[in-house]
Amino acid sequence: AGVFTYDPGFTSTASCDSTITFIDGDEGILTHRGYPIGELAEKSHYLEVCYLLLYGELPSPTQLEDFESRVTNHTMLHEQMMNFFRGFRRDAHPMAVMVGVVGAMSAFYHDSTDINDEWQREVASIRLIAKMPTIAAMAYKYTIGQPFVYPRNDLDYASNFLRMCFAVPAEDYVVDPILSRAMDRIFTLHADHEQNASTSTVRLASSSGANPFACIAAGIACLWGPAHGGANQACLEMLKEIGTPDRIPEFIARAKDKNDPFRLMGFGHRVYKNFDPRATVMKQSADEVLELLGVENNPILQVAKELEKQALEDPYFADKKLFPNVDFYSGIILEAMGFPTSMFTPIFALARTVGWISQWKEQLNDPQLKIGRPRQLYQGADVRSYVDIEKR
Ligand code: CMC
Repeated sequence: AGVFTYDPGFTSTASCDSTITFIDGDEGILTHRGYPIGELAEKSHYLEVCYLLLYGELPSPTQLEDFESRVTNHTMLHEQMMNFFRGFRRDAHPMAVMVGVVGAMSAFYHDSTDINDEWQREVASIRLIAKMPTIAAMAYKYTIGQPFVYPRNDLDYASNFLRMCFAVPAEDYVVDPILSRAMDRIFTLHADHEQNASTSTVRLASSSGANPFACIAAGIACLWGPAHGGANQACLEMLKEIGTPDRIPEFIARAKDKNDPFRLMGFGHRVYKNFDPRATVMKQSADEVLELLGVENNPILQVAKELEKQALEDPYFADKKLFPNVDFYSGIILEAMGFPTSMFTPIFALARTVGWISQWKEQLNDPQLKIGRPRQLYQGADVRSYVDIEKR
């Protein structure tokens, strides 16, 4: 027996030291290695942010070139892995496919599963970052019944992903640079977010010495839930269900009703009790993309804008400090780009992979590393004697 601090949901427990990401939820501040997210989203790009998260500093031009070429070299998936995709039902959710395929990478790439070998750790990191867009795009193509589109290594990371999702073989597909920039920004804004549920899951899985592919598969599984990465899909489905602005008050009333489990998706955050700084950038990006695509008058967007306004004016949301989070706007952009809602969370997963890996690497270098093993407050029966079945 012992005395433990009871902290369900870990609202006041720091599980590790970290030098990667800082969040001040009251002020709405998010920095990676000290750089504010707004500046990174505006001036940097995803692969540079990946380098920053992984290695701690912004790269020099040669370091960046070398990193980008290493990532590019690893974008292809082993041809045998295609068989793995084919084992899924044709209407599987792409997240289910990703959990399975990423977990299976430990069987295909076992030359990078030894966590005690620094070189193997590095190869596993690059492989995961490089292959995740290919896996997400193939999961999508598989579930819509189209042939896989292979990566093209003359394209940048975001353009390559868009092409793998939207190109139909035998047709030319030219990626619009504004859409590619918007995609890159969505990746950048999701790259890391300190000890959220999926990252903590990766760290907990890794604390037992599990291989990196297994740990990242665990992270993807955790991200899937609607309270976490699944919120972007749930948010867009909610906006579609609301349908027209006149129905908004009914849904706001439901969100406030404690006897109704319904929540406004894309609102609220465990850490941010102020505007989510990622949401501010995402909102701006949403306006740009919708204007480019000429869909500013899209009915979903009208509902989103009106919902945001009414919720922000409502004392319930103000008192509980519930603001729109990153998922409120990302879904609108992805919908406008032509992604089905089932692809929203896979896109979050691919973008968050670098955060998971950076945290995983940091943890393995932590001299204090111990297996994660919370305790509990036992509330069950006292010791009692077994009763034979005929006497029960
Ligand atoms: N709609 C209505 N009420 C809400 C909402 C919401 N979206 N979010 C929180 N509340 C209420 C909640 O009912 C509770 O009220 P009371 O104190 O009267 O019981 C209070 O606000 C605090 O909520 P909580 O559930 O104790 O807070 P939490 O920190 O455990 O949960 C959250 C954070 C993000 C899970 C929650 O706000 C939520 O479910 N939001 C909707 C889902 C969502 O958008 N998730 C994406 C998060 S951002 C991306 C990511 O990191 O994955």
